[in-house]
Amino acid sequence: MNKHLISAADLSKDDALLILDTAEELAAVSERSIKKLPTLRGRTVVNLFFEDSTRTRISFEAAAKRLSADVINFSAKGSSVSKGESLKDTALTLEAMGADAVVIRHGASGAPHRLANWVRGSVVNAGDGTHEHPTQALLDAFSMRRRLGSLEGRKITIVGDVLHSRVARSNVLLLATLGAEVTLVAPPTLLPVSVGTWPCEVSYDLDAVLPKSDVVMMLRVQKERMNAAYFPSEREYSRRYGLDRDRFAKMPEDAIVMHPGPMNRGMEIAAEVADSPRSTIVEQVANGVTTRMAVLYLLLGGESAQ
Ligand code: NCD
Repeated sequence: MNKHLISAADLSKDDALLILDTAEELAAVSERSIKKLPTLRGRTVVNLFFEDSTRTRISFEAAAKRLSADVINFSAKGSSVSKGESLKDTALTLEAMGADAVVIRHGASGAPHRLANWVRGSVVNAGDGTHEHPTQALLDAFSMRRRLGSLEGRKITIVGDVLHSRVARSNVLLLATLGAEVTLVAPPTLLPVSVGTWPCEVSYDLDAVLPKSDVVMMLRVQKERMNAAYFPSEREYSRRYGLDRDRFAKMPEDAIVMHPGPMNRGMEIAAEVADSPRSTIVEQVANGVTTRMAVLYLLLGGESAQ
């Protein structure tokens, strides 16, 4: 495995399977009443969050703590970043603290890549702008495997605001590595120009793709990243690309519904679909902790998972 995890493309099939299998072993720990292993005792993990986050931040913190690492949480609000301190100076401060791993979320695509040149520890990308979010893709793959078994040949449909979604890009790359067949469904205005080079199919017709899907992953409409009108109205978007009860009924009986959160209930996904037993949305959060434990464990070179 590489020293850093910046893109899902950094992972070979063997790397990805090793992470997923390790996460499966570690899941047993999360089910115990004492959810802690001594593996990373004495190691320091810094969580560096320049962008808002609920699930990812809490999940990395829980993952590092369950492996007994010392955890330093840094959020840009309330730090010297709001006084204009640069990423480089922040990185040098972390370096002085002896961070073994730095988990970074940043609004600029490429920030984790830059950071990796300035610190000695491992860098884990927890979401950079509209670029990538590799641990989300890993926890999604882990959640799919738990429900469906092997992903080889599985049909995965990813729907919505692909243009602004780091989750979509990382998922397409990882799922292709794992042998799944991915179809992206979005309005043409919400697809990146480069999508033709991605290892997936593209469709504009959700109703046609749903009956052939093993997994339907809905993406959040990322209004905070939109500086123009990408669709006529929220109602129109929802009517064409939202997963409501009628569309849900078109999916095969054992197909599952996913969403990385946070959701716009009633827009890209109806509340009753999100809360159905075939939705993995809450499981995805729990699986995020286990998957991130596996990533930290493997990057920081723990010896045994027991
Ligand atoms: C995603 C993100 O931040 O990229 N959420 C997450 O990490 N769980 C998706 C989103 O914000 O829509």
